[in-house]
Amino acid sequence: MAEDLMFQDEIKEAVRDAYAEISTGAGETVARRLYSDDELAEVPAEAVAWALGVGNPVRYALLRPGEAVLDVGSGGGIDSILAARRVGSTGSVIGLDLLAQMCERGTQHARLAGVDGWTRFLPGEMEDIPLPDSSVDVVISNGVLNLSARKSRALAEIFRVLRPGGRISIADLTVEGELPPEIANDQSAWAG
Ligand SMILES: C[S@@+](CC[C@H](N)C(=O)[O-])C[C@H]1O[C@@H](n2cnc3c(N)ncnc32)[C@H](O)[C@@H]1O
Repeated sequence: MAEDLMFQDEIKEAVRDAYAEISTGAGETVARRLYSDDELAEVPAEAVAWALGVGNPVRYALLRPGEAVLDVGSGGGIDSILAARRVGSTGSVIGLDLLAQMCERGTQHARLAGVDGWTRFLPGEMEDIPLPDSSVDVVISNGVLNLSARKSRALAEIFRVLRPGGRISIADLTVEGELPPEIANDQSAWAG
């Protein structure tokens, strides 16, 4: 069997365990730094409490009514719900998340928001997106790509499912320079 030199499986397990264990998101105080009052008023308090992102990809996605959106690593669904409001019932939103429990949470929050008719949550991995080629107009993602040990693969998957002329709006963490080994080799740092 080929050796996993990038420790991809270990990293995936560490990320999975970390997100399976948390019992709440970053909370309203953090959400208020990322979203305006008007945006937060569009989302149920339960989804706001579960916000775990690092930015506001929907704000820059220039979504139009009728568009099909994929939210990669949708978590509790805050951005999926905001996207659903912008594309309306003639559009569609799919939230993709590694964890079934996150998908259940997203489904519950979309129902509370009244956008469940055109919003669904799909368990799956960003490195192997369970959607056909050229099936969405816009991909959004918030604080998720940094968690992948296979970022090129995840990006290739995003481009595969995008229709020609489609758009991406991604908020994420980037690293400039080298991380110190005690951070680069720390499993909790990968998940965090
Ligand atoms: C930092 S949270 C961000 C959640 C959400 N985007 C938000 O802004 O609140 C990262 C999310 O990505 C999911 N995730 C981690 N690795 C993933 C993968 N390989 N494929 C899909 N989702 C993944 C986690 O389960 C978690 O819900």
